[in-house]
Amino acid sequence: MIILGVETSCDETALSLVRCEGDLTAPRFELLGATLFSQIAIHAEYGGVYPNLARREHQKNIVPLLIELLKKVPTEKVAHGATIAMTPEKENIVRGILAREQELIGAFLAEVPRLPRPKADAIAVTMGPGLEPALWVGINFAKALGVYWDSPVIPTNHMEGHIISPLLATAKPVAFPGLALLISGGHTELVLLRSWRDFQILGATRDDAVGEAFDKVARILGLPYPGGPEISKLAARARQHSSEKSSAPFKLPRPMIASDDFDFSFAGLKTAVLYGVQNLIKAQKDAPLSETQKEAIAAEFEDAATEVLVSKTRKALEKYAAQTLIIGGGVSANNHIREAFEVLAREQGSTELLLPSRDLATDNAVMIAMAAYLDHLTGSLKNGLFARGNAKIGTKA
Ligand code: KG4
Ligand code: ZN
Repeated sequence: MIILGVETSCDETALSLVRCEGDLTAPRFELLGATLFSQIAIHAEYGGVYPNLARREHQKNIVPLLIELLKKVPTEKVAHGATIAMTPEKENIVRGILAREQELIGAFLAEVPRLPRPKADAIAVTMGPGLEPALWVGINFAKALGVYWDSPVIPTNHMEGHIISPLLATAKPVAFPGLALLISGGHTELVLLRSWRDFQILGATRDDAVGEAFDKVARILGLPYPGGPEISKLAARARQHSSEKSSAPFKLPRPMIASDDFDFSFAGLKTAVLYGVQNLIKAQKDAPLSETQKEAIAAEFEDAATEVLVSKTRKALEKYAAQTLIIGGGVSANNHIREAFEVLAREQGSTELLLPSRDLATDNAVMIAMAAYLDHLTGSLKNGLFARGNAKIGTKA
């Protein structure tokens, strides 16, 4: 089965073509092609993602990305069919679907009928969670393409995409029960995977997501958005320095590390950084933070966040005797966090650690096509093509 993936839940517009094979015991995936436009530079100016700006950018970029994708995928991999005529009847339906996507409709009607139809069996699109104005662009685009190409459209859960993303790199079957730690800009969740059909959220953040905490701490330190990669660079530099020079000017809490559940809290950690920085600046008579101080604070913050994530995950691994540990979401691109989980998996002995490659850790459409294939295999196709900003994992309705 070949699936075209569409992702527009936040600030990445992304498309993919993925060949999906095998059954639930050993699904296999081959990446045929992917295109992605990141709006990070556009949102960086405002220090965060603006939903309506994101929506306009998705509208503008999605058709050019489709053209690029079809150019990129070798025809020996996906036989491109003939172009399909845009009948007046189809054009009417497409116009109706795209009525609210004014910046997309013109490009769609002008360009898409000139493209060969790839031999894709289905179109998968993120229905949530995410920013609803942004989600709608992908959904309406997929719907219109589905009508035009006579292709079924599969609504897909973005977080389930993050869970499955490491499977692109492995043909090995996943041993259940498994545990997934999802760490992104909007989510921090521990999910028990009893099978590909049965996901249960064990715990989640009660306030900020861990990626959000990275972004907010970065802002406190005067670093650009998104802060995760910036903090990570500074922290790495601090760890290279001598231990004395890089010791933190203040110690941060490890929120909820000893709590008797699988929940998290990162808002207090960010506030502790804010107060620590304010006190430090006062103590040095309003002199701004030095680079060395910033590096040391970044390292202390990264340590605090990592220790909490690892500790809660260790507890869940042990309680549920999980045989597989999957880490997914943008924050799983973080080197320090990846290494900490490699150590944890070695310590646990029988736990197989699955990490996505760095480019599949952050948002992409490859994982969306992959997640749709699992929905297809489990028969848990989600109903209705509409955006659900707060969609929960495993939501089937
Ligand atoms: O999964 P993702 O691309 O989008 C959401 O679904 O939220 O995650 C984005 C988040 C941002 O908060 C970003 O700062 C964080 O992932 N991030 C990182 C790193 N790369 C991205 N956080 C820490 N270290 C990184 N290297
Ligand atoms: Zn994401």
